[in-house]
Amino acid sequence: MKNEVPASCGDGRVTRKENSAGEGTEASAESCWKTAELPPALSAVGHLPLKLRHQILWVILIDKVASIVAYSRFENAEQFRVDGLCFLNSIIRRITTMRMLAQHTMIYLGLAVLPFLAGCTSSGPVVKRSYGTMPDGRIAKLYTLTNAHGLKATLTNYGAILVSLEVPDRAGKLADVTLGYDSLEGWLSSTSYFGATVGRYGNRIAKGKFVLDGKTFTLATNDGENHLHGGVKGFDKVFWDAKLVKRGGAAGVRFTRTSPDGEEGYPGKLKAAVTYLLTDNDELRVEFKATTDKPTIVNLVHHSYWNLTGDPNNTILDHELMLAADHLLPVDEGLIPTGELRPVKGTPFDFTQPAKIGARINAEDEQLKRGNGYDHCWVLRNQTGKVALAATLYDPSSGRAMDLLTDQPGIQFYSGNFLDGTVKAKGGVKYQFRTGLCLETQHYPDSPNKPDFPSVVLRPGEIYRHTMILRFSVKK
Ligand code: GLA
Repeated sequence: MKNEVPASCGDGRVTRKENSAGEGTEASAESCWKTAELPPALSAVGHLPLKLRHQILWVILIDKVASIVAYSRFENAEQFRVDGLCFLNSIIRRITTMRMLAQHTMIYLGLAVLPFLAGCTSSGPVVKRSYGTMPDGRIAKLYTLTNAHGLKATLTNYGAILVSLEVPDRAGKLADVTLGYDSLEGWLSSTSYFGATVGRYGNRIAKGKFVLDGKTFTLATNDGENHLHGGVKGFDKVFWDAKLVKRGGAAGVRFTRTSPDGEEGYPGKLKAAVTYLLTDNDELRVEFKATTDKPTIVNLVHHSYWNLTGDPNNTILDHELMLAADHLLPVDEGLIPTGELRPVKGTPFDFTQPAKIGARINAEDEQLKRGNGYDHCWVLRNQTGKVALAATLYDPSSGRAMDLLTDQPGIQFYSGNFLDGTVKAKGGVKYQFRTGLCLETQHYPDSPNKPDFPSVVLRPGEIYRHTMILRFSVKK
């Protein structure tokens, strides 16, 4: 009985068999192989671990082959067999080591990749839903990013706009620290650029004209006699394609669009992208990138309005601001820089140390008069093109603090002087004078007409990049 081979072994399925006592036993694939073929001498091998048995089998098999080859070819077959065995042993040892190595690598890789495969980074999944219908019937989408600490950023592919950003205060209470609208309709007719991606050239260009490689280009003059924020239909008023992205545990959205040659008067077909990432360091990263097929100018800007109290009925005048800048670009009546770099020391524009925004905003100062408050570009101390701290903002009432880092040479600080209570916005609130402020990292206004300013020209083969990092925290 014992040595009899059960019928169904070959295909590896398990069959049920009676033993001499008539009790049913599990006939595993393993036992059938053992009884059928091996001479008694080897049955002891049956107790060895399967792996080892496989190895031995290999040795024997090759040994067999070796002796057959040896006999047919070599004088001293015996010597050849031994050498062969040693050689084979070393091969098997190497194979075993490599397999173990591979196994360990797989385990570590598995441990590293698993969270991503599971699709659940520490920040939650991106929630996508419809936001509203454009006049041409296209559906705008809303993307919500949430990080491990509950910060929530909401974005739409219309204008690649940051619709809201909810941040905790010192008591942990979340509130939206940005200005904007409750629905798409609000943004369609907006002239305030709330949370918008501004371009192709953010800020002003004098008289809507510039010369590039000897050729004059004419842009819309949509801000008095000057050009502002990309013209009549800038990047904030168009549809962007959207793609979900993940990077190092952070979830995000990449918006892309192609601005055709001649759009709003700008030369060259520009491929633009802006990526928003919400990290578990409570950072919102805004990363711009662009390439062109003809020489052109680029200055993409993120235009959020901040109110860290989380309540837009409050002004931002008690916020404490620090700007890492020792110079300012004074402007003319049209808010076009004169070209001078003016030291801020001893002026109401000195924010080298944290200072309350409202403390000097109404001071007798020509530049404050021209801006109707703060609406100027500061020259950042960091001109390296590398990301560094550019500003800090703190609201003592809530404890919310925001550090702003960038690789750009300038920052436009605008204290919300055009808000006049006519804009009906989120929650039905009408935004009053100076209830939001903007900190727009950028190249300087009117740079195309100012040869001394850092260049904003982009040529084919070059990549325009701009990083802005908003890092949130609370002070107890
Ligand atoms: C920028 C400008 C301001 C104003 C706002 C938008 O911040 O500097 O003058 O135009 O945009 O309203």
